[in-house]
Amino acid sequence: MSFRLSGVMGWPIGHSRSPALHGHWLKRHDIAGAYVPLAVQPERLEQALRALPALGFAGCNVTVPHKEAAFRLVDHVDRSAARLGAVNTIVVRPDGTLEGRNTDGEGFLRHLEACAPDWRAADRPVLVLGAGGAGRAIVGTLADMGVGEIRVANRTDARAEALAAEFGRPLVAWPWTRRTEGLADCSLVVNTTQLGMVGWPALDLPLDLLPPDGVVNDIVYAPLETALLTDARRRGHIAVDGLGMLLHQARAGFAAWFGIEPVVDEALRQAVLGSMPP
Ligand SMILES: NC(=O)c1ccc[n+]([C@@H]2O[C@H](COP(=O)([O-])OP(=O)(O)OC[C@H]3O[C@@H](n4cnc5c(N)ncnc54)[C@H](OP(=O)(O)O)[C@@H]3O)[C@@H](O)[C@H]2O)c1
Repeated sequence: MSFRLSGVMGWPIGHSRSPALHGHWLKRHDIAGAYVPLAVQPERLEQALRALPALGFAGCNVTVPHKEAAFRLVDHVDRSAARLGAVNTIVVRPDGTLEGRNTDGEGFLRHLEACAPDWRAADRPVLVLGAGGAGRAIVGTLADMGVGEIRVANRTDARAEALAAEFGRPLVAWPWTRRTEGLADCSLVVNTTQLGMVGWPALDLPLDLLPPDGVVNDIVYAPLETALLTDARRRGHIAVDGLGMLLHQARAGFAAWFGIEPVVDEALRQAVLGSMPP
């Protein structure tokens, strides 16, 4: 196979963990290729995307602040991207057109399955905190999996209500101030807000009402161990961190660009953790 190229477009881009992640897989599979950080200003995104085929790129990732703009600029989108109105992975098709995908929901699901193999979607309600971009991807995935009731609580209640109105059942808007009560009977709670991230306050969510077998998933990955996860482990719940979602969402892009299905394992986790600022 000829030399293959991919990368990640963002502005700024220095914070991205994707070059370390894909770089690990390229080395591990001894692939003749490269995955590079691409600092692209918002006003030059269209120019940069259109240059991909001419530069010989197999595709790229797009990250903050380009995900919605890229959705409008690509030629084709998959179902996940269409539902979210945002693209995080682009594949250059053989005819030079650009296909946009969104792999966040898939990444969330694969990591949840790996960490909590006995969790069953149909069992009981799920509480999702946050109705931003990541929250949207996750509620869409949970709905596809057959969760019967997805309670969405968001600081700005109107945003949760709008999401519930857009998706319909199984989503129900749950008041942010009553989020703790939303844990009752749940098989899973997912934090998709920024709360708990470095530089942000912790999420205030006492877990007393969560049934003992309830799974706690925090998609924040900096820090890896949030106060929410520490509390969950202390109480004996399965605690699912955010790094695995990040790693799993990258798999589809790598497979499309470099032709190999990569695995998420401890060596990859360590490579990505080692690339993070202390
Ligand atoms: N692990 C992964 O692979 C992965 C992937 C994507 C995102 N993430 C993480 O997920 C988080 C959200 O990302 P996003 O892209 O969805 O961001 P986003 O679209 O900007 O949404 C932010 C969410 O956080 C809520 N929020 C912000 N400040 C808050 C506060 N002080 N109190 C309560 N809620 C607050 C917002 O509520 P309002 O609507 O009220 O503003 C909104 O629901 C980030 O920490 C990000 O790093 C992880």
